[in-house]
Amino acid sequence: MEVVVLAAGQGKRMRSVLPKVLQPIAGKPMLAHVLDTVRAVEVRKICVVYGHGGELVRERLDAPDLAWARQEPQLGTGHAVMQALPHLNDAEMALVLYGDVPLIGVRTLRRLEQAAGRERVALLTVNLDEPTGYGRIIRDEAGRVRRIVEEKDASGDERRVREVNTGVLVAPVALLRDWLGRLTNDNAQGEYYLTDIIGMAVDGGIEVVTEQPDHLAETLGVNNKAQLAELERSHQRAIAQRLMEEGATLIDPARIDVRGELVCGRDVEIDVNCVFEGRVTLADGVRIGANCVIRNARIGAGSRIAPFSHIEDTEMGEVCVIGPYARTRPGTVLADDVHLGNFVEVKNSRIEAHSKANHLAYVGDADVGQRVNIGAGTITCNYDGANKFRTVIEDDVFIGSDTQLVAPVTVGRGATLGAGTTLSKDAPAGQLTVSRAKQISIPGWKRPVKQKPGEA
Ligand code: UD1
Ligand code: MG
Repeated sequence: MEVVVLAAGQGKRMRSVLPKVLQPIAGKPMLAHVLDTVRAVEVRKICVVYGHGGELVRERLDAPDLAWARQEPQLGTGHAVMQALPHLNDAEMALVLYGDVPLIGVRTLRRLEQAAGRERVALLTVNLDEPTGYGRIIRDEAGRVRRIVEEKDASGDERRVREVNTGVLVAPVALLRDWLGRLTNDNAQGEYYLTDIIGMAVDGGIEVVTEQPDHLAETLGVNNKAQLAELERSHQRAIAQRLMEEGATLIDPARIDVRGELVCGRDVEIDVNCVFEGRVTLADGVRIGANCVIRNARIGAGSRIAPFSHIEDTEMGEVCVIGPYARTRPGTVLADDVHLGNFVEVKNSRIEAHSKANHLAYVGDADVGQRVNIGAGTITCNYDGANKFRTVIEDDVFIGSDTQLVAPVTVGRGATLGAGTTLSKDAPAGQLTVSRAKQISIPGWKRPVKQKPGEA
């Protein structure tokens, strides 16, 4: 099968500088959803028909398996498919899809392909209570499809038909080429309608069959931001449903957003308002508190992430305790049983097992050993304004509060740093290192008192 994806429509009603088919559903452009779906169906060729302003679409989504056909001006869906014909092989079947109908499913497409076989036309249709705006499927007394009539060209009787054209169809390329060559734009909209090929097929004795999608949402198109939001919610509901079927506990399935791939082990619990982006894996027993954002991360079994934490490009071992209000940035690798508390930021650092930074710290470009205790307010000064340097903190180090580690610097195994230390040279293993002005007390000292006006 070869695929034509129609994506030339401008989408004026989105009122956006971003072309319509690049508007995201679940963080991914609508057209990318369609392309990934047809890739999963394993087709021979994919041709995207793009139009005015579509260069950005091509730039963003170009891939070696795609052919691009420009449609300028846009004279209708039939005209759009015509632009793709030079890329299509007469011996193949063609599948036509829309770039702004993002949730079409693999199973539905496979069924449509089966129904078409090698010589039929297969149409994907749905029955709607409110069919206004769609092309209607007109059948004869025997129930065979006769033709499709567009809303604007339909008679009163025809408008009462509830079975509508979704726009998705499969047809033999050679026949399609012949029919498209004979299209006229003699209709209410002055357009070349792809839908007119159905009447031509029937007249030519070609069988037209129909299939219905697994889910209605697969056929919903997006013309404005309200429809985009509706489809987003329906997609997120479906993802939440799947996660729960796989055993995840979602405190409220209406309040989770997955923008990528989320894989959960057994007995994972996710509280409300969490956002998952990219590839996220939560191993068995992981618990995610409310309002966390987690992107491209692997979280080990039994780890707990408390509310309002932000986890990005991070690998986390087992039974870690993170947050609330913790932030891990790209390059963070935490071994087992690491604790990061409120307002602790970690970047491009490795922290070994059983180490803790429980309050208000910045650990950047550091290698932290096992059983290290990083006191409140500790900061790795990793950046001199031009270059970044590493801090090495060996096993069993204790770092007092409000310490600055001016990198590059190493704290030897078992060392203790006194609170308030500004460490600019390596600290030897096993010793107390402290840099601090000596504390003095002045006996008999009096506080100044406020002078009265007129007094000298
Ligand atoms: C089309 C169908 C209608 C169907 C409906 C389903 C035709 C004539 N009508 O109507 O039967 O019920 O979709 O949503 O086919 N496009 C181009 N180039 C063009 C025109 C359109 O690429 O010149 C693309 C659009 O970007 C869009 C798709 O084709 O992705 C459908 O176009 P649209 O204008 O929405 O068609 P409808 O009038 O809704
Ligand atoms: Mg439409």
